[in-house]
Formats: sequence, C-alpha cells, structure tokens
Amino acid sequence: MVEITLREVTRDNWRPLVLLSRALPQDQQRYVAHNAISMLDAHYSDGAYTQFGVYAGEQPVGYVLYGHDNDSAQWWIIRVMIAHGEQGKGYGRAAMQQVIERLRATPGCDAIYISFVPENQAARALYSSLGFEDTGEVEDGEAVYRLALTP
Ligand SMILES: CC(C)(COP(=O)(O)OP(=O)(O)OC[C@H]1O[C@@H](n2cnc3c(N)ncnc32)[C@H](O)[C@@H]1OP(=O)(O)O)[C@@H](O)C(=O)NCCC(=O)NCCS
Repeated sequence: MVEITLREVTRDNWRPLVLLSRALPQDQQRYVAHNAISMLDAHYSDGAYTQFGVYAGEQPVGYVLYGHDNDSAQWWIIRVMIAHGEQGKGYGRAAMQQVIERLRATPGCDAIYISFVPENQAARALYSSLGFEDTGEVEDGEAVYRLALTP
C-alpha cells in the first residue's frame, strides 16, 4: 500500500494541488469548495487555519484544510478532497485519520466538527466510520457532525 502523507503547501506545489479541483465531476463540485478558494481561506485566516496537500507517495492526490473557528471557539475540518481519479483507494480515510491525530495533539482541542451536503453519502459514510456523530444541527444547508476526542 502506497504511503499517504500530508505535506505543507508551498510556492513550489500549490499549483498541482489547485488543479486537482478541475477533475471533480459537476455533482462533487457542489460538495467542496475549489482548492484555490480554500487556499485563499487559509491565506486570510490570520494563522487560524492549517492546510496540507495529500500525497500518495510523491503524487499529489488531495487537499485538506482545518483549524479553529474563532466565532464558535470550535475546531473544524473545513475541507477535504481527493481527486476524482484517486477516490475509493483509501486515501480520504488515511488523510482524515492523520488530520484527526494532528488535532488530537493540539492543546485545547477536545472535539472536531465537520459538515457536509446531506446527499454526499461518501462523506457521511466516511465520517461516521471514523466516529463522527450527527449533532442534529444544520449550517448553511450542511449536516454538522462532531467527533469527541478522548485524551
Ligand atoms: C469524500 C472523499 C474525501 C472520500 O475520499 P476517498 O479517498 O474517495 O475515500 P476512501 O477510499 O478513503 O473511502 C473511505 C470511506 O468513504 C466511504 N466511501 C468512499 N466512496 C464512497 C462512495 N462512492 N459511496 C459511498 N461511500 C463511499 C466509505 O465508507 C469508505 O470506507 P470503506 O472503503 O471502508 O467502505 C472523496 O470521495 C472526495 O473528495 N469527494 C469529493 C469532495 C467531497 O465530497 N469532499 C467532502 C466534503 S464534506
């Protein structure tokens, strides 16, 4: 099994990571913001958000963005995407597990929030299998799930 790593987004690799969004089919473009938008969200977050490229070996296959929401004082996984041709290979799960471990090690983070368009069955199945539970809340039309972190 190829190793999945999270790598910093830099001036040398941001472009291929942005281009991963181009291959997403129309229906999935409703599920997740374009990676260029997410990178600008990170850029203008005053350091509150952390972003990574997801790599399978040396190949860029996805993107994640997470961080602290100052308004709600909650920690969120804000974006996760795997390029269309690379989906269904376990990369999304591996990336999510690594983000969860990073947040678990973050002082003050005792729960992680994530939201998704209700029709996004892959996201619902993935997050549920990782232990996220439905809060019953809906934000901007998206179902809000929560993972409690035990030390
Ligand atoms: C959702 C997404 C991140 C999952 O990543 P992935 O690499 O394709 O998923 P994995 O191969 O790691 O599979 C993990 C789990 O997701 C679920 N899953 C993946 N594809 C699925 C599908 N087509 N239908 C239903 N469940 C699916 C399964 O529970 C799977 O676990 P299993 O293999 O043990 O059954 C990816 O499909 C994606 O980027 N989609 C478009 C953007 C998006 O929807 N992002 C999430 C926004 S909230």
